[in-house]
Amino acid sequence: MNLSHILNREAEQAFAAAGIEGAPVVLQPAKNPEFGDFQINGVMGAAKQRKQNPRELAQKVADALAGSSVLASAEVAGPGFINLRLSPQFLADQVHGALQSSRLNVAQAAAPQTVVIDYSSPNLAKEMHVGHLRSSIIGDSIARVLRHLGHTVIAQNHVGDWGTQFGMLVAYLVEQQAQNEHFELADLEQFYRNAKVRFDEDPAFADTAREYVVKLQGGDEAVLALWRQFVAMSLKHAQNVYDRLGVLLKPEDVAGESKYNNDLQPVVDELLASGLAVDDGGTKVVFLDEFKNKDGDPAAFIIQKQGGGFLYATTDLACVRYRVRQLKADRIIYVVDTRQSLHFAQLFAASRKAGWLPENVQAEFIGFGTMMGKDGKPFKTRSGDTVKLVELLDEAVERATALVQEKNPELDGQTAARIARAVGIGAVKYADLSKNRTSDYIFDWDNMLSFEGNTAPYLQYAYTRVQSVLKKAGQWDAAAQPVLTEPLECQLAAELLKFEDVLQTVADSAYPHYLAAYLYQVASLFSRFYEACPILKAEGSARNTRLQLAALTGQTLQTGLGLLGIDTLEVM
Ligand code: ARG
Repeated sequence: MNLSHILNREAEQAFAAAGIEGAPVVLQPAKNPEFGDFQINGVMGAAKQRKQNPRELAQKVADALAGSSVLASAEVAGPGFINLRLSPQFLADQVHGALQSSRLNVAQAAAPQTVVIDYSSPNLAKEMHVGHLRSSIIGDSIARVLRHLGHTVIAQNHVGDWGTQFGMLVAYLVEQQAQNEHFELADLEQFYRNAKVRFDEDPAFADTAREYVVKLQGGDEAVLALWRQFVAMSLKHAQNVYDRLGVLLKPEDVAGESKYNNDLQPVVDELLASGLAVDDGGTKVVFLDEFKNKDGDPAAFIIQKQGGGFLYATTDLACVRYRVRQLKADRIIYVVDTRQSLHFAQLFAASRKAGWLPENVQAEFIGFGTMMGKDGKPFKTRSGDTVKLVELLDEAVERATALVQEKNPELDGQTAARIARAVGIGAVKYADLSKNRTSDYIFDWDNMLSFEGNTAPYLQYAYTRVQSVLKKAGQWDAAAQPVLTEPLECQLAAELLKFEDVLQTVADSAYPHYLAAYLYQVASLFSRFYEACPILKAEGSARNTRLQLAALTGQTLQTGLGLLGIDTLEVM
């Protein structure tokens, strides 16, 4: 059972003993560890409702808590908070249990769900750029946490592989292959630009491109084969980025827009037949009363254009239906730029009305803000172009290499390269994942690669330091009963035991920065503990207990960073 469950149960019993029924206890981690490990904030509300003195009522609850074996103290403070401090015996037992468990005491979900996560999802007509970083890594860490908690995660990379640009791209591919038999797609961005130039300057080429679009949509095998070739080349680029980033997406997770092509007309027909969609002067529209346009009329969710063409929305409707019916999703998570929030709100509303998204299936738009340059504008190259993701990762590793060489010049080349990779890529990912995803953030190399502050290098280094202490320790007993005496031992233990609660919060809210903030707290607390409580110089059970705390710290940092998709190192 996790820590907050145990404490909630204790608090509820104490509320009952104090004569408070049906009021929430409102248990929270303490704001300031000086005063306790947790606090109960629910007494004030309960007192107000019952017209009782809050401090007196709080004292009754605190008295009832006094007998708890879990707590060392329960003290009334301020207008009626109760500060709780966990008992050293309880903490020691829990640390002992966590060290014995292969999962650091993190339980598997009692009711595992099938969770579909739509993430990364780049358009294949373009090379992956920094705009794709956030969806890829935020989605990936949510997927990792949910899997870790025992849910079945189905990753869906909803790539943009369909639409009119593909006629042009295939036409250009044919031209290139005619000139060079062994044509390789080296630079997708350049390829796209060249194709566009050809399209604009040569009417014959433009005609061919348009012809290909019609043939593609008509299912012409020859053109489809060419299209598949192009898509395969483009996906190879994306896969290369995922592998370098340590994002778990695999080729089999690709379920792009083209997959739903045959479902689009049926989707429109079904919505028309049920009366949910109407013909509005040739355009097929679902009017949604709960969304108003700027004139105050119901917003129009367009599902088919006048000429018969389908839209992004049509594909997403077909896709929701597929995820519910075929993939049997209990929960669907879309990790997409926050600028698409209205599209998804309308998509969910229309899908619910159509009966394709039943009430018992959760659908969540997990939006994120923009990555900004130091100038406060969207991150660009000096010449104002979008930054390719591959180039960003190259630069990260390059910068980390310089850093590693400076810090540790005697490392052999191979080890240095491995460390630089973990630090460089880790820094980029952590800088992003440690921020509240809904806000924009400033991309700053110096900050993210610093060994001080809330950064990947700081946490990776903290892990390495723990490992080096453990290595120097020689013989010690992980299975012995720990004995906690010092305040910082207790504080560190209490923090380590919050791991499961934090993972649960991330799983529920899909905000990875809660995990990052927690790991930073653990690392900072470990470093204070390390200063205050010598480990290797201590003797007897104190030495062993401190080594146990160090080991649990190391395991928590490693598992936690791993769930953010960040590697740890034994030396650095
Ligand atoms: N390809 C889209 C883009 O780059 C993102 C797709 C998100 N997923 C979805 N089901 N619409 O903007």
